[in-house]
Amino acid sequence: MEKIKSFSDEVNIENKRVILRSDFNVPIINELIQDKTRINQSIPFIENLIKKKAKVLLISHLGRPKNESDLTLSLKPVFNYLQEKIKSKIYFCSEKITDKTKEEISFLNAGEIILFENIRFNKGELKNDDNFAKVLSSMGEIYINDAFSCSHRKQTSVHKITKYIKKSYAGPLLMKEMLTIDMALNNKKKPITCIIGGSKISTKIGVITSLVKKVDNLVIVGAMANNFLKFRGNKVGKSIIESGSEKIIEGIYENAKENNCDIIIPEDFAVSEITEGNANLRDINNLKENEIILDIGPQTIERIKKIIDISKTVLWNGPAGYFENKNFSNGTISIAKKISNNTNKKSLISIIGGGDTISAIKNNVSGLNFTHLSTAGGAFLEYIEGKNLPGIEVLK
Ligand code: 3PG
Repeated sequence: MEKIKSFSDEVNIENKRVILRSDFNVPIINELIQDKTRINQSIPFIENLIKKKAKVLLISHLGRPKNESDLTLSLKPVFNYLQEKIKSKIYFCSEKITDKTKEEISFLNAGEIILFENIRFNKGELKNDDNFAKVLSSMGEIYINDAFSCSHRKQTSVHKITKYIKKSYAGPLLMKEMLTIDMALNNKKKPITCIIGGSKISTKIGVITSLVKKVDNLVIVGAMANNFLKFRGNKVGKSIIESGSEKIIEGIYENAKENNCDIIIPEDFAVSEITEGNANLRDINNLKENEIILDIGPQTIERIKKIIDISKTVLWNGPAGYFENKNFSNGTISIAKKISNNTNKKSLISIIGGGDTISAIKNNVSGLNFTHLSTAGGAFLEYIEGKNLPGIEVLK
């Protein structure tokens, strides 16, 4: 592997404007942060930069804004939290970033921080736009990407910015994620089971297509499984479905057959007519028209536990159900407990990834142990798949 330029204490940052790309893409409901893991993990490095008297320009995205001023996706709650946690002076720039911004933030002193509003509110971000990259990079002298979880995105603040800024480095969190996943993957032992859940269906189907060639068992849970159930001719009531996924799923089954990979989909469920309702158990044949599948049922949980028992490596990304309602968190918690137990007792290599998966585990159960817990979702999957991540490639 080509060497990554990682940030070290030798880099002189005193009085320099350091652009730090972090991942503060955290779940926020009514301005309340539901899981602070990603922010908490970022704080020690921000404090380190402050200690070394850098001027820190903090950049992150939040969600996938449909328009430039979707205030439900404002980073203001993150700013308020950082203000509570970090002792140094911290400002919030709610304006879009333009060629005037550099001048407007020239008041920033060494050891101070400015957090910019959701970078995706700027038109050029998603397009990896050259002009926006020039404007963005001109604000700083040094760029550090500490957002492994965003490094699969070819977007200005993780990719094109490095073309125009003199010095770019990988931050310590990014390095730790890469090294730990590398270590676990290099030692991975067969049988390998991959459990994929969650609801970001279209973003994961490509990864699944590739994983069936590399793993022995592929367990599909969460909203994603609904597409597989429908493809197999099962009724899914009012559950979320992504139209147009049939061809892809057909390809996945063909590839799985050629590569001796078993695909396991749920056979019973916890359902309700509304997401905030109570759980009713159903098997695959008696789901009603107006019901939504919100978790896997007890038989499916037992089946997954048996598969974990015969596995030597388990990769898991995405919750098994709508864990935000405790009535539907049983599947996710049961999987987490089983993997943790086997990691402790049977030296199972367990690599767990994804913001939602971690929220689900942390909000519901404590004291679990895994070989590696990654805060990254899509980036984690693409990395274990062996893809080059654009945000990491530019740091080589
Ligand atoms: C994530 O939560 O996986 C990262 O923050 C990337 O978010 P994105 O999928 O919206 O690019």
